[in-house]
Amino acid sequence: MHIVFVASECAPFVKTGGLADVIGELPREIAKHGHQVTVYVPYYRQVQSHVKEKKIAIPSITIPFAYYNRFVTVVDGGKRDGVQYYFIDCPELFDREEPYGPQTGEYTDNWERFGLFCRAVLEASKQLGVPDLFHAHDWQAAMLSVYLRTVYYFDSALRNAGTVLTIHNAGYQGWFPPATTENLLLPWDIFTVDKLEFYNTFNFLKGGIVYSDALTAVSPTYAKEIQTPEFGNGMEDSLQKRAADLYGILNGVDYAKWNPETDGKIAAHFSPKDLSGKAECRRDLLHAFGAPHVGEDTAVLGILSRFVTQKGFDLTAQIVERLTFENIFLVVLGTGEAYYENLFKSLHDRFSHKMSVRVTYDETLAHKVEAGSDIYLMPSRYEPCGLNQIYSLKYGTVPVVRATGGLVDTVEEWNPETRTGTGFKFYGYEADDYLKTVQHALAVFHDKDAWHTLMRNGMAQDFSWTKPAEEYIKVYEEVARRRN
Ligand code: ADP
Ligand code: GLC
Repeated sequence: MHIVFVASECAPFVKTGGLADVIGELPREIAKHGHQVTVYVPYYRQVQSHVKEKKIAIPSITIPFAYYNRFVTVVDGGKRDGVQYYFIDCPELFDREEPYGPQTGEYTDNWERFGLFCRAVLEASKQLGVPDLFHAHDWQAAMLSVYLRTVYYFDSALRNAGTVLTIHNAGYQGWFPPATTENLLLPWDIFTVDKLEFYNTFNFLKGGIVYSDALTAVSPTYAKEIQTPEFGNGMEDSLQKRAADLYGILNGVDYAKWNPETDGKIAAHFSPKDLSGKAECRRDLLHAFGAPHVGEDTAVLGILSRFVTQKGFDLTAQIVERLTFENIFLVVLGTGEAYYENLFKSLHDRFSHKMSVRVTYDETLAHKVEAGSDIYLMPSRYEPCGLNQIYSLKYGTVPVVRATGGLVDTVEEWNPETRTGTGFKFYGYEADDYLKTVQHALAVFHDKDAWHTLMRNGMAQDFSWTKPAEEYIKVYEEVARRRN
């Protein structure tokens, strides 16, 4: 089969979160199975810096809008590990400071940026190769299925192509004014509640949910959760209608990048057989965070995240003061909403003897946090999959998580009797539950024998892409079978 991935992020070219990791890794894994795989991403400023010599695949594609045309160039990003990359270049829309918008919000023309992106991928693929299936990711790529089944309906070159939409985060949907319908040259009859309309807004994600042949969510638990009002963010009814075509497939991770035995970004290597290098990684992490002297019996707690409401930072803020009475040191690495950046900076000012905060995006530091912490905190309000807790497991960094979404599917509660389990979970979104769970983890931390077993249990887990890739291929085959 030929599969075309359509996404707004892809590591190493452009990354704001886990979507980039997935698009950087899953296509390669699918290609290993002998499939032809192509990835399309917008030619953002961040992507440009990875392209040494700009090679043009298509000099000009016309993308019509109501009163003007835009013109897109397709850049050939070359082939790496069996995957062909193309970038959709439209400088006035993509050559900007950020992929989605300034820290204060979203670019107001995101409807046009991502509407154009989807239409350009359809047009480009007619020249560069129509796939058996388009695999679109999140709201930014969701309009591809809408275009394909409406204004491109009679296009015999495209009509047999199937579509899969993967939902990485139903909290982001792409809501725009109703006039977006005609601004994107789409027929008004799609602006109804059973199609794209959502409380008088034009909703990109909803369009993808209604018009794609199959849907996936990035963990089995999240696939169920988004069919409920608590997690569906208004998409629950549309998703329930598509329940028969909605699959939960847990993300994989790339152990070539995230492995304490080989990681080039950390101070020392370690393995389940020989954990001794972890102490050096801990020292190095504390040094990088300018921490005061921290004794060996102090538990280092790590946080590494986009600073957004989803991640449960309000809960963390509520327990920090009480945590300072414990034998801990907290390191925090992240960037995002100004509110959380300021919150962590002010907590740091108050409790600098017990915590250190770095407000920056830094991949080397990210690896140091994973390798050097004893405990990883992830009290997410919701979490479609989550990758950092999976990375933590591999580094013997024991996760304390809220039992939601992918955190349910990847962390198993420690059981002192059977000595099984990989971490600690709490259920309600309550600061007291969270604190108690961290205190429970700290108690186990001081029982070194139990703790080493717990670390090794986590390090033995296998969340590589092998199984998820096979599950995606089954979905592709099912869609292809139905379309024929
Ligand atoms: P989300 O996609 O919701 O942000 P994930 O856990 O799926 O959450 O993925 C987050 C990805 O972004 C991980 O690869 C993580 O290491 C990376 N990341 C997040 N914040 C930073 C940061 N400040 N510096 C470096 N990497 C970061
Ligand atoms: C989203 C989710 C995160 C998931 C990532 C990759 O950003 O917030 O939970 O791991 O996508 O699928």
